[in-house]
Order: sequence, then C-alpha cells, then structure tokens
Amino acid sequence: MCGIVAYIGDQQAFPIVLKGLKRLEYRGYDSAGIAVINDRQLNNYKQKGKVAELETFTENKDVEGTIGIGHTRWATHGPPNDINAHPHVSGDGEIALIHNGIIENYDTLKEGLLSRGHEFKSETDTEVLIHLIEDIKKNEEVTTAEAVRLALSNVIGAYAIVVMDQSNPDQLIAARKSSPLVVGIGKKGDYYLASDATPIVEYTNEVVYLDDEEIAIVDRNKGLRLYNIQNQEKTPYIQELELQLEELEKGGYEHFMLKEIHEQPRSIKDCFRGRLNVDKGWVGLGGIKDYEQQLANANRIIMVACGTSWHAALVGEYLFEDLTRTPVEVEYASEFRYRNPIIEEGDIVIAISQSGETADTLAALELAKSKGAIILGICNVVGSSISRITHAGSYTHAGPEIGVASTKAFTAQVTVLTLMALTIARKKGTLNESKFRRLITEMELIPDKVSRILESSAYIEKLSKNYKGARNALYLGRGNSFPVALEGALKLKEISYIHAEGYPAAEMKHGPIALIDEEMPVFVIATKGPSYEKVVSNIQEVKARKGKVVAIVTEGDEQVKNMADHVIEIPDTDEHLTPLLTTIPLQLVSYYIAVMRECNVDQPRNLAKSVTVE
Ligand code: F6R
Repeated sequence: MCGIVAYIGDQQAFPIVLKGLKRLEYRGYDSAGIAVINDRQLNNYKQKGKVAELETFTENKDVEGTIGIGHTRWATHGPPNDINAHPHVSGDGEIALIHNGIIENYDTLKEGLLSRGHEFKSETDTEVLIHLIEDIKKNEEVTTAEAVRLALSNVIGAYAIVVMDQSNPDQLIAARKSSPLVVGIGKKGDYYLASDATPIVEYTNEVVYLDDEEIAIVDRNKGLRLYNIQNQEKTPYIQELELQLEELEKGGYEHFMLKEIHEQPRSIKDCFRGRLNVDKGWVGLGGIKDYEQQLANANRIIMVACGTSWHAALVGEYLFEDLTRTPVEVEYASEFRYRNPIIEEGDIVIAISQSGETADTLAALELAKSKGAIILGICNVVGSSISRITHAGSYTHAGPEIGVASTKAFTAQVTVLTLMALTIARKKGTLNESKFRRLITEMELIPDKVSRILESSAYIEKLSKNYKGARNALYLGRGNSFPVALEGALKLKEISYIHAEGYPAAEMKHGPIALIDEEMPVFVIATKGPSYEKVVSNIQEVKARKGKVVAIVTEGDEQVKNMADHVIEIPDTDEHLTPLLTTIPLQLVSYYIAVMRECNVDQPRNLAKSVTVE
C-alpha cells in the first residue's frame, strides 16, 4: 500500500530510487514520482501510471543528484493522477515529502493552513503534511528536522515519510507510525530508505527497522541518528538481512505468481525444516516455545486476519479444534477491532499475516494486547510490525511474495498452523501416538505431492480454457475444504475479474443454486474423506441444473469422474492436510484464466500487496 524509497550518498540517486520503486511496485501502482536535489535545486517528476511510465517521462530530464526520494502510490485520498502523485512539495517548492499511510485529521489541519494563506494543488492528505512542515519551519524558525518532529506531533493517523529540503541537500529526514520503514546502511557510508528491505538488499544487508514514532535523520557528515517523537536520542539497533537478491527476481517464469505457485514444494519444506522430525516423532516451533503451556491451557484461541490469511485461519480452526479440542474463533481483523470484543483471561489471540503490516490486523492485535491477551503472530516478512509487537510467533519462511495474489504464503501459513496444532495437541494429550506419527509422516510427504500436482499444469491450463469466458463461478467444499473454496474464489476474482463465490457445499441449496445454469462453472472439492458422499450428492444437484462441474478429486476416483465435466486429481493424504494440496490446482486455474483474459496477473487493478491503511 504505497512504496517509498530514498537514497543519500555519493552515487547518483535517481537510478537507485527508480530501481527501488520497481521492486516496491507490488505495494501500489496508480502513479509514481521521484524528486532529486541537484546543486540546491529540487527537481520533482511524477506521473499517473506505472513506474515504467515515469521512467519514459524522465528520459531527457535533469535527474542529476546524489540525494533523492521516490514513491509508488495506491490511492487513498484523491484519484490516481499526476497532481495527486507523490512527492508533494511545500508552497515555496523547496521541501519535498513522500508518504505511505493516512493523515486522518488532514481536514482540520488543512483548515488552519488555508486560513494562514497556504494553497493546495492536490486532493491528498499528504500535501497537508508538507505544508504543515513548511508552516512550522517558517513561523517557529526551526530546522526542517525539528519542523518535521513538531508537525508529526499534530498528526493523527499512520505514516512512513521521508522529507528532503533543497536548502540542506546533505540530509534526509524519515519517520514512521504504523506504516513500515527500513534504513539500509550502505558499505560506502551511503544510506537507503524504503518501505521494506527489497530495494535495499542488493546494496547492503545491514538494516535498522524504525519503530513507531521514531524519527531518523540521515546526514552525509553525521551518519544516522535516531530520535523518538519527544526528541530523545536513541541507539539504532542494526540487524542483518537474510534476504537473497535472487528471491526477488522472476527466475525465468512469466509472472511472479506462477513462480510463487511453483515454489511451494520448497516453501512448505522450508516452513517445516527444523520443526519436524519424523524419525524422532517430534514437532516444535522455537518461536512459541515459551508459550506452549499457555496455548495448551487456553480456554479459547482467537485468530485474526484479513483476506487469504483469514482463509488460512479458517483452516487453522478445523485443525486446532479437531486436534487440540480448544475452541477457536476466527475473526476478520477489521470487524474485531471495532466491536468491543470479549477477551477473557486465558484467551490467546493469534494474528496471521503475510506482510505483517496489514493495518486492521495490527490494530486488532493492539486492542487484544491492551485487554491483557497473549498475542502471537504468524508472519512471513521478517522484522515486520506484527512480528515486533507480538509476545511471540512463528515465521512462515516462504520467502518474499511479490505477486499481489497470495499463493505460497497461504500454504506456508497452513503449514505453521498444522505444526502449532500438533505441538499443542501433544502437550495436551489430545492426540494419540499413532495418529500423531501418521500426521507428521504425511506432512513430510506434502512437498513431493505438491510437486506432482504441479506436473499436471499443462492439463490444468488446457481445461481452464473452457472457463475463461465465464462471468460467474461458484466454489464448493465441506469441512476444511470450505476455506479452500473461499480461497479459490478469491484468487479467481482478484486476478481475472470474474465474479466468484465460495460456499460450504451444503449451503448451495439455500440460495446460490438459483444461479446455476449451463454457463456457470462450479469448482467442487470432492476429495476422499468423511463428507465425500455428501459432496457427491451436491455435485449431482449441480449437474441436474446443467452446471459445469470441475472437481478436485483424490487420485483414482471413478465415481466423480463419471459425473463431472472435468476432474483434477490430487495425491491421497490425511484429511487434515488436504488443503495444502487442493489449493494448488485452484491457484493454477485462476492464474491460467487470468493470463488468457490478458489481465495483469501480478498487479491486479485496484489492489496492493500490503494493506497498511484501514
Ligand atoms: C489475496 C491477498 C489478500 C491478503 C490480505 C492480507 O490474494 O493477498 O487478501 O491476504 O490483504 O494480507 P496479509 O496476509 O499481508 O495480512
């Protein structure tokens, strides 16, 4: 949700910032802009559209300078156009600002600034902040850095910002509250600032993650200094990045999404590496070791998440309730945070988030923490805000997910939830030895089984052709296949713009069945398990209304094959683990249909990867 990049050092800033914006484009792609200072002259270029359009636009412009800031936008206030694009500049054109977040009290601030003669060009909340900084700097006769600090003390909302002033081209001023910001410390005494580490990793692996209400001043001569909003100096905590540059490239695939779908055998394995030992009959998650007993004693577990991560939480609910017999509630973080939820002693709240930055999930956790709950996190991005505010947690180790549609993060989240449920079940004694052994043995086989499903990609691509013109689609599943149906529908709608709905298969007759006709593809998860026969009956109900059925079945199934229009076979596994397999063909179907419809698979319209505003 908006990406910001900045550079100061002895190299040319523009190419570094431009490349950084390309890496961050998954966070928003409505418009882009870069400002550089050349010999105390601030040059600001911004354009509606993708970073590539900005690159073309700046081809013959003066982009010289060793200090620069850049932004790729996901619009919140004001439509995506050249004027609303960042960077925004002060009224005198001397100070420039990039911002990720939302200034909630911008209206009130704007009224005051208008009455003091400020004129605004854009409809953004961000422009209010740069005018406020300018106003304070002039009226209170303070440095730009001090004006930034004072301005931020008046701001309600979320921000990660970087500011530069042409009167002091030796300095970048950055700050964060609720939106992420990382400072990379370069090898030649240069500095890189960005929303996440992806634009930084090719220059340095030494980074400082800013905490809420921290202000960083990066100066060519004085280096990096860190302050809190009360102006007390703090010691920066330098961390080493484990990210590899190759992980950020497409690696020969046409899209990041396809690459990430194909990475799943590895990402699932990486997720359970060192956490599962079949020979010794052992499972453990180091990150939550100190909380195992509390988890075992919990009266209730509440899982909070959004989107795909919420679907993973629903799979988690089946796993936890069945294996550990602990009641689980799964909540949309955005609902949970605003409805005065009941949190009692002995409750544990687990947040699930790929990015670790989703604003609603963060706020839900903060609320739960303020009510005294133990809060745990399951995140993919190392060092993310959620991973830092939780008492403990487990990383999914899926590697960077760049495609906006989540794929490998989902299967990694389900893997961590499975390991967590198994750990607690062992501790509580709710799972007998033979079932435990069977589950961990099966878990270890999952990566190979995912590889086998991926081998049928060509077949899945071919069958997807039949449905590329669909206007609606229905996804049905029962038990732990119901969240998979929801996830399948979400994947199709978000990248191919076909309206799709996921339903518990038996609910179909309470409404959605009215939609079924010969035009309507119905994707049914009909693998072998306790509700197999019931799902077979649901397929018959669809066929009786001439619906087109694509069924995901267990290898060797003949019954459904004789009824469905198409079947996709998956290897047999324990019913607790089927979501890790049934999800894969649905990801591929969505991907191929979107490609055939010539949609922008990695950057679907109106979406952004990391939703840092509510
Ligand atoms: C869908 C998708 C989104 C995210 C949601 C939560 O493919 O990617 O629905 O799952 O925005 O994001 P995280 O997991 O980063 O909290």
